[in-house]
Amino acid sequence: MDHRPELTMATVRLDQKSRAIVRSISESYINAIANYFGSGPTDIAAAKSQHKAYADALSANGVEVTTLEADQDYPDCVFVEDQAVVIDGHVLLPVPGHESRRGEQPPIADFLSDQLQGHQICKMEPPAMMDGGDILRIGDLFFVGRSTRTNDAGISELKDLLDHLGHELRVIDIPAQALHLTSISSTPSDNLILIPEEYLTPESFGEMPEGCEVIVMPKEEVYGCNTIGLPGNKVLMADGYPAVQAELESRGFECILLDMSQIRAADGSLTCCSVFY
Ligand code: GLY
Repeated sequence: MDHRPELTMATVRLDQKSRAIVRSISESYINAIANYFGSGPTDIAAAKSQHKAYADALSANGVEVTTLEADQDYPDCVFVEDQAVVIDGHVLLPVPGHESRRGEQPPIADFLSDQLQGHQICKMEPPAMMDGGDILRIGDLFFVGRSTRTNDAGISELKDLLDHLGHELRVIDIPAQALHLTSISSTPSDNLILIPEEYLTPESFGEMPEGCEVIVMPKEEVYGCNTIGLPGNKVLMADGYPAVQAELESRGFECILLDMSQIRAADGSLTCCSVFY
């Protein structure tokens, strides 16, 4: 029997399906890469507890969550978003931009291949490189960050796939003070993009489809711009970003606040910790 929650057409998001993979915090998480938001995690027990609360919040809001085992050899393995992107019957397996993270991919690829039989697996090869965290989708329109993790060869491979699917791709240059496109933006709904001032501009996203809007938030709340929109006008977001919360609440969203401090310490945001499929 299929126990997945029933979603009505009106609430199904194009980019966020009803199932998600997360991956536990590694015992070596203290060594996770941290160059942007954080200076490195300090408390693995707290990180594990925050990560569990995150996975529980997804489950409590109708997402069927599968937790993959951590791998001690990969301190950053909790950040599964970078390793695979599911797009309209295709599983894109990028070449992660940081060499130390490439070995995180096989269990995620195996799980998705098993679960999504019939999907086409699209495996990138070097010199192309890309982190899934550089991809943002709003309806049929995709954005990709050109960053330290995502190069032009990777962007070109993504464009080939999206051309094949009839979707448009726009490239956004990621400023030096940010890791990924999704580190500094997100789509709390199918027609909104949150961005921080001074990191990105609405103009960099180009002309938006009718009814879609890019909302600029204070630069101090850059981390708060990463959210996960869920059916039923609910949005998961990090605690401590009042301007983002007020903006979303004024638009009728219910914000579910999570302590992400130990995830942020390793430059991880909410979307980094899941792959929706
Ligand atoms: N710590 C996450 C990353 O650098 O990829």
